[in-house]
Amino acid sequence: MKNLVILISGRGSNMEAIVRASSREAWPARVAAVIANRPDAAGLAFAAAHGIATAVVDHRQFPDRESFDAALAREIDSFAPDLVVLAGFMRVLTAGFVDRYAGRMLNVHPSLLPSFPGLKTHQQALDAGVRVHGASVHFVTSQLDHGPIVAQAVVPVRTGDDPAALAARVLEAEHVIYPRAVRWFVEGRLALDGLRVTVTPPEPQWFFADEAAAAPVDTQSITGEGT
Ligand code: GAR
Repeated sequence: MKNLVILISGRGSNMEAIVRASSREAWPARVAAVIANRPDAAGLAFAAAHGIATAVVDHRQFPDRESFDAALAREIDSFAPDLVVLAGFMRVLTAGFVDRYAGRMLNVHPSLLPSFPGLKTHQQALDAGVRVHGASVHFVTSQLDHGPIVAQAVVPVRTGDDPAALAARVLEAEHVIYPRAVRWFVEGRLALDGLRVTVTPPEPQWFFADEAAAAPVDTQSITGEGT
């Protein structure tokens, strides 16, 4: 049985998707704790209601990133984690913290990395005029929103989308790929080769949302058949 520690900063809907999938699919893992850097993180209530240990390490109580990260690591390690899951954890982490959990810390980011790291990713996507956007689950490295990609979800950008509409479509896809990626990790199915991550036995590491709603492709005009 592997121990998961999930870090959140707010709503915690990805954490909730992982907790629900782990019990529905009877993973060989348990969510040992949910830790927030804000006492008012809404997701803490869901975790507590599901019998999961919760803790708060409030970043505002620390003079610098190093001391906050050291306190956070102490709290995390008290739950003996096999995997640390960043689920909407909105803090930049020090290199020392990232190194401590190298190869055993995942993050979900609301864009198709390496496009649009950082904040306001949906606005960035709209401004860039991309026609597809999405989410990525990746191993955390000391470069912000960068690291070996475990799974990606692609969603369409629709005419008339605003950042909120796009965010909602991406979030739905996050709730599909993040539990899937965490399950692969706890089943010991992920292998890392440089920036490349493989799953054994193989499973698609991508997910296309809204496939059914996509416009039908006119294969005749593409292939030239029938002319
Ligand atoms: C999610 O969209 C997640 O991808 C994003 O914050 C949201 C958290 O939602 N994370 C980042 O932007 C990290 N760079 P949630 O609290 O409901 O899971």
